[in-house]
Amino acid sequence: MGAPGSPTTRRRMPRPEGESRPRFTDRLPEDFTRPDINPFLVAHREHGHPLLPASEAWPYRGRWHEAFGREAPLHVEIGSGNGFFLAELARRNPDWNVLGIEIRYKRTVLCAKKIEAAGVSNALITRYDAWYLDDLFEDGSLAGLYVNHPDPWPKVRHEKNRLLSRWFLEESCRLLADGAWLRVKSDFEDNVARIPRLLDADGEGAPLPRLPLQITGRSDDVITGPAPWPDDIETNYQSKFRKKGEPVYAIELRREAR
Ligand SMILES: C[S@@+](CC[C@H](N)C(=O)[O-])C[C@H]1O[C@@H](n2cnc3c(N)ncnc32)[C@H](O)[C@@H]1O
Repeated sequence: MGAPGSPTTRRRMPRPEGESRPRFTDRLPEDFTRPDINPFLVAHREHGHPLLPASEAWPYRGRWHEAFGREAPLHVEIGSGNGFFLAELARRNPDWNVLGIEIRYKRTVLCAKKIEAAGVSNALITRYDAWYLDDLFEDGSLAGLYVNHPDPWPKVRHEKNRLLSRWFLEESCRLLADGAWLRVKSDFEDNVARIPRLLDADGEGAPLPRLPLQITGRSDDVITGPAPWPDDIETNYQSKFRKKGEPVYAIELRREAR
């Protein structure tokens, strides 16, 4: 068993037909031999609104408006880290419901604190594993999906752990509403460069059916040039790469009409 809250490194299996239960399950503090190793294991459960532990998140599948207390377009950020982007996205877009998904216990608490400090009521953070998005969302239910600096896994033998994969693009097609966007930023060039290839091939380049995603913008550096979308929000990792003078790559794709 990995350290409490460490990112997933296994491949997600296809959801069995007719399965309605969540496949990502929250381990309780008592499931760990040394729960004290990570105080945020307990802290993330005790924090309360705007932080939803996994067991409180998946029941909102198909009714996230109830968690937010209103109907509004649902925008989801994966791997929210310290929560700056999440809170700022919510602050700049009061008409959206904004949900962050983060696997690490401590970071979910940091995100919750950022949301609280921003004084916004349209953002939530959940501790969930992004390889199980279908536990959380129905088809066509997302207005926007954001992946900022996902763990890069640059070594070839770790490539299967990269979230930005053919599987993830297929999942995005399923989850995004018609015309909705997927916005990706990464300091690891190949994570962005391979997305156009993965639209009609697998990771090894074998041809696959073309996915209904249109590339609507791309940038080889959102620091020295414009992002492929208006009003870019600098993330914590993005600021680290800006300070190092290194580029941040970006791509935007939109779901074609069904
Ligand atoms: C490199 S950090 C980037 C954080 C933030 N997006 C930023 O740009 O500053 C990647 C984040 O993704 C989270 N993460 C990694 N695997 C994940 C998974 N399977 N599900 C949800 N979050 C995950 C990590 O815990 C970490 O906070």
